[in-house]
Amino acid sequence: MLVKTKNRKCILKIETIKWDKGAVKIIDQTKLPQKLIYVRCVTVKQVWDAIRILKVRGAPAIGAAAALGVVLGISKKRFSSFNDLRKEVDKLVKYLASARPTAVNLFWALERMKSVVLKNKLDDIKEITQKLIAEASAIIDEDKRTCRKMAQNAQVLIKKNDRILTYCNAGILATVDYGTALGCIYRANELKKNVKVYSCETRPLLQGARLTCWELNKKGVDVTLICDSMAGYLMQQKKIDKIFIGADRIAANGDAANKIGSYSVSVLANFHKIPFYVAAPLSTFDVSLKDGNQIPIEQRSKSEVSELFFKRSITAKGVDVYNPAFDVVPAKLISGIVTEAGVITPPFPKKIARLFKS
Ligand code: MRU
Repeated sequence: MLVKTKNRKCILKIETIKWDKGAVKIIDQTKLPQKLIYVRCVTVKQVWDAIRILKVRGAPAIGAAAALGVVLGISKKRFSSFNDLRKEVDKLVKYLASARPTAVNLFWALERMKSVVLKNKLDDIKEITQKLIAEASAIIDEDKRTCRKMAQNAQVLIKKNDRILTYCNAGILATVDYGTALGCIYRANELKKNVKVYSCETRPLLQGARLTCWELNKKGVDVTLICDSMAGYLMQQKKIDKIFIGADRIAANGDAANKIGSYSVSVLANFHKIPFYVAAPLSTFDVSLKDGNQIPIEQRSKSEVSELFFKRSITAKGVDVYNPAFDVVPAKLISGIVTEAGVITPPFPKKIARLFKS
């Protein structure tokens, strides 16, 4: 993605994730915004760790990283039979799927890789390997196209000079390219809508402060950072026209899991009668789940809360900490879900079911 910085005429290419000469190359997002560092994962364990510790993060991006992780795993081995290859792919899929539990895009991408093997069992091993590489590359290309379609579809919801609040990071860094919620904002600004963004910092890991502000700034989008606790005040002061967030998993009834704190923002938005939109690709829907209560919520290390971004403790030693990484926005608080197939509005269940009718 080509990006113009706001203050300099320099063009910066941000590539969240790509295959690079036998390695999965990603931006190490834990180093942002201080340093833009690309790391090459040359083992599947390194891909797993990168997903687990959020070097690569965001639902679509971790799906793409895992698909490339499977390619990396098989490229390291020789297989003497179809069964050998199938067993290895099953093992890789199971391992990579254990990196994080909430974003369904991870399992969706890995299932796609697994089914390539099963669907092509009559082919020789070399051909199946080629098809696995092609599938990972299709997942990456589809993500790029999907984000752009979503962004275009969202334009009916975004007016000139809108002031949009966003939470966590659902941008270039959370996808292969362009973003979901932030993609909608990028498109609005390409259309000269002069959108202003308020980014919540997103405790505990500060994806909003570190990542959303960084990429919006690089793209020349007007962004202001606020503490999470300021969102209600801004809404009360009539400084927010709408909310756009991404999602990690959307259940059949429209309940949408996203970064912890999204629920609070949705309740505040509802109280202040501000439209609350979720932008997510169809790969983020999990229609096997009736509602958000069934979405697994990742529990992460206590130190992420008790230490200021892995640096120094902000609480007394021994204080207990609770660190659920996601929460669920109830469908009844969502004004619309933007997908590549269009914008769906409440009531969601029948409309979601229609999208997945085969
Ligand atoms: O823990 P993270 O940083 O992976 O959480 C990411 C989010 O909650 C994003 O908003 C979500 O994955 C949507 S990304 C397009």
